[in-house]
Amino acid sequence: MINEVVVATRKDNRDNKAPIGVYLKDKKVIMHLFSGSHTYENLLTEDYFSVNVVPPIEIAKAVLYDDDNYLYYKNIPYLKSSYYVIFYKVVKRKFVNRDDKFGKHELMILEGEEINRIYLNNIPEPYNRADGLLVEMAVIYSRLSNKNLKIDEKTRKEMENDMKKYFSIVKKVGDRERKHLAEIMLKNLNLF
Ligand SMILES: Cc1cc2nc3c(=O)[nH]c(=O)nc-3n(C[C@H](O)[C@H](O)[C@H](O)COP(=O)(O)O)c2cc1C
Repeated sequence: MINEVVVATRKDNRDNKAPIGVYLKDKKVIMHLFSGSHTYENLLTEDYFSVNVVPPIEIAKAVLYDDDNYLYYKNIPYLKSSYYVIFYKVVKRKFVNRDDKFGKHELMILEGEEINRIYLNNIPEPYNRADGLLVEMAVIYSRLSNKNLKIDEKTRKEMENDMKKYFSIVKKVGDRERKHLAEIMLKNLNLF
């Protein structure tokens, strides 16, 4: 099963966060990182990172922003908003080329081994229907805004229509913060 988390990394004194789908098994994590992101660049050379298990809204925020009030464990950044955080050391990197509906791209398959974990005192909020939609919007947003991906016209149009449809529901069921995040994604893609 793929778990949607926020991965935080640090390089040259700069902290970075990004939503990433990871496979968690026992003390190991596997991630597939597309070349071109800060997370990919950071983890090419840096050996430590955190996997932050967060409320869905934080996934949408992480696709838009890198700034946060980071906390640190041995210089590894992590998020205050997490329910819990697992810290990993990179133990394997493998590079593969993919050719799919998003064109040709390079992928780093990275394996990490757990070095520690901490549980924070954040209480889950009741589920709001905008939460799942915001995560779906964030996935589409990250693809449409990735200059390295070649998306054919038909697929692009479908993705844009999905963004607009999800936004119309977020507007009905979300609070101000959720509506605002959805609006920023549409504005950045010139769909608003
Ligand atoms: C829910 C979700 C899951 C994602 N999973 C991955 C992934 O597994 N691998 C990846 O390379 N990018 C993934 N992305 C896209 C990255 O989050 C996106 O490219 C992001 O802008 C990278 O940020 P950075 O440049 O700060 O690292 C995902 C995005 C979302 C919203």
